[in-house]
Amino acid sequence: MKKILDKLRSGKDISREELIYIYKNINDSDLEELMNMANKIRLENYGNKVFARGLVEISSFCTKDCKYCGINILNKDAKRFRLSLEDIIDSCKKGYRLGFRSFVLQGGEDPYFTDDMIIEIVKAIKSELENVAVTLSIGEKTYESYEAFYRAGVDRFLLRHETINKKLFEEIHETASYDNRINALYNLKEIGYAVGAGFMVGIPGQSYEDLADDILFLKKLNPEMVGLGPFLPHKETVYKSEEKGNLRETLISLALVRILIPDVLLPATTALSTLDKNGRKLGFDAGANVIMPNLSPKDNIEKYSLYNDKLNTGIESADNIQAIENSMEAMGYVISKERGDNIRRKICL
Ligand code: 5AD
Repeated sequence: MKKILDKLRSGKDISREELIYIYKNINDSDLEELMNMANKIRLENYGNKVFARGLVEISSFCTKDCKYCGINILNKDAKRFRLSLEDIIDSCKKGYRLGFRSFVLQGGEDPYFTDDMIIEIVKAIKSELENVAVTLSIGEKTYESYEAFYRAGVDRFLLRHETINKKLFEEIHETASYDNRINALYNLKEIGYAVGAGFMVGIPGQSYEDLADDILFLKKLNPEMVGLGPFLPHKETVYKSEEKGNLRETLISLALVRILIPDVLLPATTALSTLDKNGRKLGFDAGANVIMPNLSPKDNIEKYSLYNDKLNTGIESADNIQAIENSMEAMGYVISKERGDNIRRKICL
């Protein structure tokens, strides 16, 4: 283990076998060492800043059948909502007044929102709010649609690959195409977006080999952002009785991503905070440097239920940004609500 950790520290390429070895054999003091290494790299690249993005959940309707997700099309009991164009823009304006300069519009794959509607929303946000970054997280679209959104002013796109194991991907998404998902990520890159990929830790049927492959895939893709968190079961899905993802494996994954993609923007996810009451702090200590507090109108937040007990108040709500800032400061971090571009991009505030 010491040899592998030294290799990581020296910036040398790490093999699949070595990654698997880490996941299988790491003990508490090795994990501490790995997290310290990641933390140091985060400090060198972004200091002790944690970037806050205002999250607006625009729709809980979805045509996809992702077995793990509480808002999948098969869940007839899911409470569905979609925001009006005005509500979406107003949520961003509320965020702007709270100081946010980076917004993430996230939703299920909901055909109600045509490309033209998305473009109208983005243009309104970009013209009414000065110097803000807009991120979309609305799933797989055609190359042409991605291009049109980019031309309308979208800066970033989040599309987790979920797992790089094709067989496992097809197991957890009965009808979705693996190739389509991976191609979409390369399309987004080619068009010019700052891209976010990522995976869940502890999906039923996932092995350490799979996690190692996820890490290697991310290193190869070299995205500007990575979203990764533990799988958490949702009571109205076929995975309702499956085990939660594991905290240590999530922390190992965060630290490895930070070490192998030093300039990555890496959220401490809501799923991680839901899994463990110290999850957020541990995530930062493992190299994470982004949070995504929720700006959505209150009565819809509960309906955006991807997994059981999803936190939606306190530290996850943008209304409490002052409390969030205070608690971050107590942990030794400083919140930045600016655009927070990846440092490899020109515009960096
Ligand atoms: N547990 C953890 N993460 C989940 N996601 C969806 N459902 C779950 C779940 N049950 C994640 C997926 C998706 C992101 C928006 O939320 O990785 O890409």
